[in-house]
Amino acid sequence: MARKTGLVTGSSGLIGSEAVSFLDERGWSVHGVDNNMRRDFFGEHGDTTWNLERLRNSTRRFEHHDVDIRDREAMLRLVDEVKPDLIIHAAAQPSHDLAASRPFDDFDVNAVGTLNLLEAARRSCPESPFAFLSTNKVYGDAPNELPLVELETRWDYADPAQKDGIDETCRIDASMHSLFGASKVAADVLVQEYGRYFGMPTVCFRGGCLTGPHHSGAELHGFLAYIARAIRERRTYRIFGYKGKQVRDNIHSYDVCTAIMAFHERPVPGAVYNLGGGRANSISVLEAIHRLEELLGHKLEREYVEEARLGDHICYISDLGRLRSDFPEWEVTISLEQILSQLADAEVPAVS
Ligand SMILES: NC(=O)c1ccc[n+]([C@@H]2O[C@H](COP(=O)([O-])OP(=O)(O)OC[C@H]3O[C@@H](n4cnc5c(N)ncnc54)[C@H](O)[C@@H]3O)[C@@H](O)[C@H]2O)c1
Repeated sequence: MARKTGLVTGSSGLIGSEAVSFLDERGWSVHGVDNNMRRDFFGEHGDTTWNLERLRNSTRRFEHHDVDIRDREAMLRLVDEVKPDLIIHAAAQPSHDLAASRPFDDFDVNAVGTLNLLEAARRSCPESPFAFLSTNKVYGDAPNELPLVELETRWDYADPAQKDGIDETCRIDASMHSLFGASKVAADVLVQEYGRYFGMPTVCFRGGCLTGPHHSGAELHGFLAYIARAIRERRTYRIFGYKGKQVRDNIHSYDVCTAIMAFHERPVPGAVYNLGGGRANSISVLEAIHRLEELLGHKLEREYVEEARLGDHICYISDLGRLRSDFPEWEVTISLEQILSQLADAEVPAVS
């Protein structure tokens, strides 16, 4: 059988690097696109050079391209040369908070960069599945309209019928998104449109918290990885509002890749799935601090900031019903406890 070729954008980042390893281990040739813009966004903490080196040393058929996805001509050329059997688009400006100070960069990378890739795929490989890492921020703060109860260490949904969390029918407009959420909505709708209008096999995975040991955790993005880093490096961690009881569901980057591969095997045009760890992998900020302190053996310096992040979710759990029903073979295989242990043991280089 001919060897398959994948193209992964954001290949030095958390999801992209996991996707590169995942495909490489399964015998694919993989082209990665990443210009280390995470360093430009988040400073030294965001530097992904260590992760690129790790990939270079651990893969067999990986070719790195230091290219900016905003460079339309370069993207059209690369996709045409490679004609990948699968595109995994994970390059992004991923932070809610950063977008407000870098609105043009945020939109150009998240929305226009996605359009560049979609159009490149339409011209050169329209039959190849195109998987886009979207986000639960496309729902803006609409999920906060659900009635909540305050428990000792977390918020939770008040209505037991809502216990599985937010599904894909949640509206995406008429709510506060942050500029990041808005640029991702633009990209999400474009990805759906290339499926519906052109019949291409595209999918949006609306991520909850995606995590794993290869995250270059920064204060503005990657909350579990950053708490682990802050404890390890004796940094002060700031909690923003909601008493630290805000809840996220967490999924390991490996389980993100198995969901992408399930779609690759049975693609349909314009699919949309929520993708998170579900209730079993949900945790509040306070609970995460407590458990990571136990695992790392000392206390976190923390500071409480009364004002919550604008548009922040109070309790967000991904309802995985649609994904499980379309792909019954897919499951979350890495538990929250395993994720936390991996983060506690992670070898992310310290930054002074
Ligand atoms: N990590 C999460 O919790 C989470 C949650 C929901 C959705 N997502 C989405 O998943 C995707 C991947 O997230 P991640 O956590 O792996 O982020 P990440 O920041 O670790 O990886 C993104 C990579 O893209 C690269 N990049 C940024 N701009 C680029 C550009 N212009 N050209 C080329 N490369 C560029 C960065 O250098 C970085 O290595 C993003 O689209 C993000 O919005 C992530």
